[in-house]
Amino acid sequence: MRWTDRQRAMLLEMGIRLGPEPPGAEPVAVVAPPAAEPVAVPAAVRDGAAPAAQPPAAVAAPPPATAAPVAFVSTTRVAHMDWPELRATVAGCTACRLCQGRTQTVFGVGHLQADWMIVGEAPGEQEDRQGEPFVGKSGQLLGNMLRAIGLTREDAPATQQVYIANTLKCRPPGNRNPQPDELAQCEPYLIRQVALVQPKIILAMGSFAVQSLLRNTEPIGRLRGRVHDYHGVPLIVTYHPAYLLRRPEEKARAWDDLCLAVETARQAAK
Ligand code: URA
Repeated sequence: MRWTDRQRAMLLEMGIRLGPEPPGAEPVAVVAPPAAEPVAVPAAVRDGAAPAAQPPAAVAAPPPATAAPVAFVSTTRVAHMDWPELRATVAGCTACRLCQGRTQTVFGVGHLQADWMIVGEAPGEQEDRQGEPFVGKSGQLLGNMLRAIGLTREDAPATQQVYIANTLKCRPPGNRNPQPDELAQCEPYLIRQVALVQPKIILAMGSFAVQSLLRNTEPIGRLRGRVHDYHGVPLIVTYHPAYLLRRPEEKARAWDDLCLAVETARQAAK
């Protein structure tokens, strides 16, 4: 891949320095020395600091105020819902304890036919307040990562504008780690979002998202670097932006993951 000046600038924003680019050669991200395997991002630091101003994403319709509460998730019913019904069902969901502490559910935003679907872990404090995924500090880095590969969360055609969702639609209290039963209760919603969007690729970010989607307890370091499958869609694993903020030396690996995802999406589009 040859970088445009714009991409170089974006890579710099991601904190990635490119190695020397000999004439005709593929530039290579400067790879950081091996680091310890990351563990699941402790929730308290998942999306720590100050909120970043983000313009509203394309599809962030507020949930209908009249959504009927759902005390349990019928996977079969959810699997047949259209967007409005799914959105309303999520907004009224009381299937697990997380409904008690939330300000609102965080459904997902973006192009409803996006080629790329980004799946994070769970809403943090800012997301719970604003009802939109990745609006905090890690959302800023996610935006930079997306721009570096020509994607955006802003209004754009389906080839460029991503759809962003989380494995959990409600904020765990105090940003604690998601519990397995919470992830299990919430997954039918994500599966339906995937079925409705029909993305060409899923980029799963962070241990909880990755491990719960792949039913695998291995650390991200062992799962990244290859193409997985999630309900028929190629899935690429990478580090959570909040982890990258704490461990910037891992950004080069994240860049490798993005490049693998770009290549995989390209193949899927053929
Ligand atoms: N971290 C996530 O995984 N998702 C969000 O929406 C925000 C922070």
